[in-house]
Amino acid sequence: MKKILVTGGLGFIGSHTVVELQNEGYDVVIIDDLSNSTIEVIEGITAITGKTPIFEKLDLKEKASVERFFQKHNDISGVIHFAASKAVGESVEKPLLYYENNLNTLIYILKDVLKLNSSNFIFSSSCTVYGQADDMPITESAPVKSAESPYGNTKQIGEEIIKDTCKVNDNLNAIALRYFNPIGAHPSAKIGELPIGVPQNLVPFITQTGAKLRECLSVFGNDYETPDGTCIRDYIHVVDLAKAHVVALERLLESKNQSNYETFNVGTGVGSSVLEVIQSFEKVSGQSLNYKIAPRREGDIEKAFANTEKANNVLGWKANSTLDDAMLSAWKWEKIIRNL
Ligand code: WQD
Repeated sequence: MKKILVTGGLGFIGSHTVVELQNEGYDVVIIDDLSNSTIEVIEGITAITGKTPIFEKLDLKEKASVERFFQKHNDISGVIHFAASKAVGESVEKPLLYYENNLNTLIYILKDVLKLNSSNFIFSSSCTVYGQADDMPITESAPVKSAESPYGNTKQIGEEIIKDTCKVNDNLNAIALRYFNPIGAHPSAKIGELPIGVPQNLVPFITQTGAKLRECLSVFGNDYETPDGTCIRDYIHVVDLAKAHVVALERLLESKNQSNYETFNVGTGVGSSVLEVIQSFEKVSGQSLNYKIAPRREGDIEKAFANTEKANNVLGWKANSTLDDAMLSAWKWEKIIRNL
């Protein structure tokens, strides 16, 4: 069976994608530097699929190590590249760490991918490239605006690096998947999100508040131009997102792509406000959530949800899970890891 490299494969989205790849019969090799994940995730993946992926602990900033890896695994059919730093706030404090870790590594990987017989490459991008889009829902043709953070900028620059490389390398076939807001956990509750420290993202903060690890959720602003005043996002179940990667990879492996560089929005197409996410949690958990209205968070955009027509009609993929499904899976995971 075809061998697929998943960089950052022990991370939140990466681990769920490894499960879906194994479910489709692919052999998976994971590279991860364990800077934002734990080796125990391999046990979770194996418990779900019955198959243990090959794992190599590797810092992708070490160019020579990356070269040695690809010399050893020169039979890779495709690469799904998740490995990157992704905390927006941290990226503002430490821009060079983000440019080095997110872009140097991309360049080293691409150089070695080009040496493979089949260079199929899926890039983990983000709706953050759109900034605050003018029109909702957001299509792939929406203008890429100046990034709100160095993290967002690394996604924009990353896409440009890949696009420019594809222009002069016909044998490189790439797809950039622009994620909206990934949430939830595998229904088995054997893998899920493992934020380190105080969660920056809404859903893990909600579930940790529900689990009494956090005293109170701060809702960052309720004076936006939205129906209930809180920000709107497109929250997509991480398993739906993982499946989108398998569909995108197969598009390249079966040469169904219409050009050698394509981008797709990966969301549900539904916008949900912060208060609606809280209501969903309260519904699926059967408990009320302790929260308060707080000042706006610097850098937050007001609204972002996807136009999913291209992913639905061209990629042949559609999200199946609802917000409640995703919140229930997130809560189930939180209770398991806290032994509740
Ligand atoms: C969602 C909404 C907050 C926490 C970020 C990155 C994006 C992607 C996903 C990596 C916002 C509000 C949050 C809290 C709150 N990451 N909120 N209280 O900012 O849309 O996207 O994560 O790819 O690139 O930008 O997600 O979950 O941080 O916030 O009120 O304690 O929840 O203001 O409106 P965001 P988020």
